[in-house]
Amino acid sequence: MTTYTFSTESPADVDTGLLILPVFEGGDPGPGVRETGLRDAFAAAKLTGKKGETLVVTGRDGDGFAAGAALLVGVGPKAEFDVTALRRALGAAAGTAKRFGSVATTFPLALGARQATEAVQAAAEGLGLGAYRFRRYKTTSKDDDGSLEAVTILGSAKWDARAARDAVARADVLVDAVAWARDLVNTPAGDLPPAEIAKAAKAMAKEEGITCKIWNETQLAQGGFGGILGVGKGSVNPPRMVELTYRGAGARTAPIALTGKGIAFDSGGLSLKDASGMETMKMDMGGAASILGTMKAIARLKVKINVIAAIPCSENMPSGSAQKPGDVIRHRGGKTSEVLNTDAEGRLVLADALAYLAEQDPVCIVDTATLTGACMVALGTDVGGAIGTSDEVAGELIRASEATGEPIWQLPLFADYRKLIDSKVADIKNIGKRYGGAITASWFLAEFVGDTPWVHLDIAGPAYSEHGNDLGPAGGTGMPVRTLVRFLQDRAGARKR
Ligand code: BES
Ligand code: MN
Ligand code: ZN
Repeated sequence: MTTYTFSTESPADVDTGLLILPVFEGGDPGPGVRETGLRDAFAAAKLTGKKGETLVVTGRDGDGFAAGAALLVGVGPKAEFDVTALRRALGAAAGTAKRFGSVATTFPLALGARQATEAVQAAAEGLGLGAYRFRRYKTTSKDDDGSLEAVTILGSAKWDARAARDAVARADVLVDAVAWARDLVNTPAGDLPPAEIAKAAKAMAKEEGITCKIWNETQLAQGGFGGILGVGKGSVNPPRMVELTYRGAGARTAPIALTGKGIAFDSGGLSLKDASGMETMKMDMGGAASILGTMKAIARLKVKINVIAAIPCSENMPSGSAQKPGDVIRHRGGKTSEVLNTDAEGRLVLADALAYLAEQDPVCIVDTATLTGACMVALGTDVGGAIGTSDEVAGELIRASEATGEPIWQLPLFADYRKLIDSKVADIKNIGKRYGGAITASWFLAEFVGDTPWVHLDIAGPAYSEHGNDLGPAGGTGMPVRTLVRFLQDRAGARKR
């Protein structure tokens, strides 16, 4: 547990383990460097302020600062330094900070009053996210790099202190929600089958005061959820659907609908993946985890909005009872699809959830899914794809993602590609041709949303980081929890005006 505080103390006086100060390229000292007498140390170490340069100066009695040690971090040219760069630089420094147990930073002071609130939130987020570790299966303390007990964000007494304190509190909630989503992704599929995902969701809902209904196989069958059941048929671990209802606005306000792909493990089914293709497939519930994290965060932040989430959870396994290529399934609402490749399973479970959500007359629907390798080919590992029927909602999501530093790029729902999923035997088939796979997958989903404005976020790349990045270690990233929360907060604000 980390405690987050906003303070207007002088950087020289703050009582902390490690004081992190920025230095700009060209040797330009950032806020706190002069006050702590560290300007010469930086120059003496022949540092230039280039991005990634660091210098630890240990404190001794009589030094210019009260902290146990100071960490000077090069952040590049001042003109390029923004909220996203700030968050990332502190994320990268969080590993060092953990060894000291407590940390303070002047980073937000480098951006000035106009961005103060955003910068304070981003600073706390960066340190919290960067300090995340997944140690559930570590039985020794060998590579334990400590824990961050206290984070102090230093700012100016001229700033709105209340807004800054709120910003720090928001960061606390977001870091916690992202960490939970990461834990769910990082937990091996052997320990997190659909029923366990549902259990975790239910416990969270109870704790945060969200209404929760878990649909079991019998109820899913009665409700006509043929996609969720079809994908889950080959596994001994039966499917579930998690339905969450959060009410932060009046009872008559239409909700925003969310769903996320919850494939506990994606072996490909009978269209089996090869061994290396399966190595990370415990992450195929990253969409589901991101929606769960989002619900937890908005409940704790008391966002004034209504949200309904329906999260389909199945395990995609080959066996004597598995669905077969050529099988036809009937989705919620009655549409049929021909399953030509059992490895294109995400769209099959999402179809049911989207149809169910569309029945609830939501304002719009957003789904997140580790859906296609094709989206990774298009955008690489770090950028999510946004495709849908509403450029307005897509625009809002992309603007939110720019603010949170979780990059998302829009791809077109190109009309001519719809015919690529025409089926000879059913209404549609679950694969297209070789090219444009992220778009044909989206056309499949589009069949189930009716007229409801809808945007799909393909997070196959950014949901999971093979080698880790500035904001966290290798494994689940929790993307796009912070973007979705921001999107919902923006929507709630728009409603108030
Ligand atoms: N879960 C995968 C997509 C994926 C691949 C996510 C790699 C993250 C990393 C999805 O279910 C899948 O297998 N998609 C297939 C679809 C194809 C059979 C049409 C793909 O992208 O190859
Ligand atoms: Mn698959
Ligand atoms: Zn999958």
